[in-house]
Amino acid sequence: MKTFYIETFGCQMNAHDSEKVVGTLLERGYSQVDEPAGAELILYNTCSIRDKAEQKVFNRLQSFKKEAGKGKIFGVLGCVAQQEGEKIFERAPHVSLVAGSASYTRLPELLVQLESGNRRVTGLSLDTNETFDTPYTRRDNPHRAYITIIEGCDKACAYCVVPFTRGPERSRTRESVLREAESLAELGYSEIQLLGQNVNSYRDPSDAGFDFAKLLSAVGNVPGMRRVRFTTSHPRDFVKEIIDAIDEQPELCNHVHLPVQSGSTAVLERMQRQYTRDDYMRRIEWMKKANRDIAITTDIIVGFPGETEKDFEETVRLIEEVEYDAMFIFKYSKRPNTPALAYQDHIPEEEKTRRFLILQERQRAIQLRRNAKYVGTTEEVHIEGYNLATGQWIGRTSQNKTLNFTDPELPAPKDGETLVGRYAQVLVTRAGPNSLAGERAA
Ligand code: SAH
Ligand code: SF4
Ligand code: F3S
Repeated sequence: MKTFYIETFGCQMNAHDSEKVVGTLLERGYSQVDEPAGAELILYNTCSIRDKAEQKVFNRLQSFKKEAGKGKIFGVLGCVAQQEGEKIFERAPHVSLVAGSASYTRLPELLVQLESGNRRVTGLSLDTNETFDTPYTRRDNPHRAYITIIEGCDKACAYCVVPFTRGPERSRTRESVLREAESLAELGYSEIQLLGQNVNSYRDPSDAGFDFAKLLSAVGNVPGMRRVRFTTSHPRDFVKEIIDAIDEQPELCNHVHLPVQSGSTAVLERMQRQYTRDDYMRRIEWMKKANRDIAITTDIIVGFPGETEKDFEETVRLIEEVEYDAMFIFKYSKRPNTPALAYQDHIPEEEKTRRFLILQERQRAIQLRRNAKYVGTTEEVHIEGYNLATGQWIGRTSQNKTLNFTDPELPAPKDGETLVGRYAQVLVTRAGPNSLAGERAA
């Protein structure tokens, strides 16, 4: 039996692609191993969003240089594969397979070429209108599943590699998405996360009137589905119908991740984000006015070329105004092929770090404030695990907050009695900046 090892970097799209790649390999008779040492085929599913992410794969490959020629086959998949293409063979001559995510439908064919002894095979075409739908997905989590609804990205944010690494936008038909959701529900999955770089531009290719808000409602209506999440939303295409759907349907989780990137309209314009600060705040307003208490999270880039102190202060003001439930802050990183590379006024690294730390500190206080409001309330959690060190069950609320709790009836998982995958009502008794704690309510 042929063995393989796979390591995945990057976003949820990549994590889910790996689940599909693993399923495809298992179906072809490979078996998966946990350590590269025991594997004949070693795959890295890579990320290129920032320079540090890209370097990781080359460090990994470097550490295996000596193993080359000992019958091991190395493959590079994902965003760095697409970006660097055949240059990877020059940088790491022991690599045999280079394939980007827009070519994964060709994976079985590429594997045949490798198996028949081809030294170098590539899948690098971006000229596709296909999505990677496979019946062989091997999911890592038995209770919560990803479903890709749209691949690629047609935006052109000035800092971002994704349009170059994942190709043009391609939506799946609603029929195919709903069939997958139904079969997952039959397998016992009660939580689904719909994935896309920009889920809001979803359009059913067989019916242009069927948009993301409609798809969201339809997935929420699948029998057995208890929680539906989605990521990521681009503010420009984020319409009020999405909030209305969340308001009406309890199965749709009350959490929206809406990356703002900057609070300054001038910076947003240079980022080519296609919305102003006011456009963004209007969307926040919709969420604040909703009947449900919708958690809002975001991504921010500090130190984009030309970002002045005044621009940065506008970002600080915006986060205070919105009061996000969580935030990912990134220091701008120069990426190949992107328009921002040619911009003037790059910001020194120390200054990026200073701005990063200011935002981080402010946001910590905001989260502490936000989370404190839940003390004394009872929240439903989906139970994800048990922490032996603290003696607490790990739960997640609809708002995507971690809520750790104790259960006097079931202090630790016993054989056949684990609560993982079940739902529980939990009384919140304490709040920290990054999580809540409580005890199981009767
Ligand atoms: N499709 C998503 C973003 C995917 S990338 C969206 O449009 O929101 C995830 C995050 O990485 C982005 O939101 C952005 O904040 C960050 N990012 C992307 N390119 C970056 C770069 N060159 N430097 C720093 N952060 C970057
Ligand atoms: Fe990148 Fe912008 Fe596309 Fe998001 S919308 S993936 S940030 S280009
Ligand atoms: Fe990284 Fe590619 Fe995702 S660059 S963030 S793995 S789309």
